[in-house]
Amino acid sequence: MAKRVAKKSWAEPYKIKMVEPIKMTTRGYREKAAKEAGYNTFLLKSEDVYIDLLTDSGTNAMSDYQWAGMMLGDEAYAGSRNFYYLWDNVKKYYGMPYFVPTHQGRAAEHMISKIMIKPGDFIPGNMYFTTTRVHQELAGGTFVDVIIDEAHDAQSKHPFKGNVDPRKLEALIKKVGADKIPYVFMAGPVNMAGGQPFSMANLKEVSKLTEKYGVKLWFDATRATENAYFIKMKEKGYEKKSIEQILLEMCSYYDGLWVSAKKDLMVNIGGFLATRNKKVFEEARNMVVIYEGLHSYGGLAGRDMEAMARGLEEMVQFDNISMRVRQVEYCGAELEKYGVPLVYPFGGHAIFLDAKRFLPHLKQDLFPAQTLAAEIYIDSGVRGMERGLVSSGRDAKTGEHRYPKLELVRLTFPRRVYTQSHIDVMVESIADVYEKRKSMKGLKMVYEPKYLRFFQARFKKL
Ligand code: F0G
Repeated sequence: MAKRVAKKSWAEPYKIKMVEPIKMTTRGYREKAAKEAGYNTFLLKSEDVYIDLLTDSGTNAMSDYQWAGMMLGDEAYAGSRNFYYLWDNVKKYYGMPYFVPTHQGRAAEHMISKIMIKPGDFIPGNMYFTTTRVHQELAGGTFVDVIIDEAHDAQSKHPFKGNVDPRKLEALIKKVGADKIPYVFMAGPVNMAGGQPFSMANLKEVSKLTEKYGVKLWFDATRATENAYFIKMKEKGYEKKSIEQILLEMCSYYDGLWVSAKKDLMVNIGGFLATRNKKVFEEARNMVVIYEGLHSYGGLAGRDMEAMARGLEEMVQFDNISMRVRQVEYCGAELEKYGVPLVYPFGGHAIFLDAKRFLPHLKQDLFPAQTLAAEIYIDSGVRGMERGLVSSGRDAKTGEHRYPKLELVRLTFPRRVYTQSHIDVMVESIADVYEKRKSMKGLKMVYEPKYLRFFQARFKKL
């Protein structure tokens, strides 16, 4: 008798209509390219990359529905139809009445920091993000990490490592005073922790605490649908709720949010801020015309806003978000078979290699994650990104390196771009690099820019 089929496999909820060729190069070619790029994967030419897992930011494949919308761009200088449609969708999916478009996420971070932070202020958050923190510091503030301790431990399997530790937050409020805290922010999932979500229960607790002290609560909602997906899959009481419902509930606890639309919204460019705070909205509307463009396009073309509006409708569809996170999970499970050291639990947008355990013979000063990202590129043309000492930068006051506990290489998945076979090829390459790990000697930094050094720093092999 035939056995019953288990039917456990899943497949991408789309078919491919247009393809972009990619090029496989030789090891010798990549050795030269890596050297010319100062062993910094940000400085490689994209055409020399085989599978590009540098980032999921702006690298997504748009749907036919989004591309069709691009043809309906209303490119009027003021009051474009696409702007109003996008605003309606921002209200519908994030529940925020006020909206200001920007060309990408960091432009929104810049305006929010300028509007809300005074020199000497403290901004608590669930771990830093590179661009977020630099804008907070340039506005005269000091970022304070109030994430739970588990987030700094690559091995901890806590299901919600993006949670804020309410005790750390309350201690800070008591120490510096609520008037020195313009807002608390939560990112979900937390990029630098490995794509780790916060729970709704934690958000409610933080919201009660900020309310008690009269402090505002803001949300970096760049990958909020991934956070909503994890809540649905892991948190009791949310199993039957839709992604749309969970996202709306999450946003209901915040005073405002900022978004890099280059992620969740599955577009190639865009960002915005949205808020229920009329005063912040009015100031941001005033400021956007200085830095970005008119308040009804914020540095974007009408067609870009149309693609964003349509991307919003697609991002909350369960099949889209589930396939995305399951692709990451698949990659993690395959790497695990070779014993490659990883960050747990697997995140929403990326698999993170634990470079400290991958290259235990290298001190952090020898940039193990930077070394590993370069070696993986040389091995197979797969491009990942350093998320360790280089990304962490220097302390704004002392000028010393900020040594993070996590020294990671991020393999980030653009949405709807790669298939399982790309993942299989990439996994074999990393397994091979893992076999040869003892031969790696680390790097020396020979050029260091002042801000966000990871983008342009250059290195020499030791
Ligand atoms: N917030 C988060 C959580 C992000 O991941 C990013 C960008 C930003 C804000 C800034 O947005 O790039 O549109 O200006 N992250 C990208 C990444 C660059 O690769 O993780 P942006």
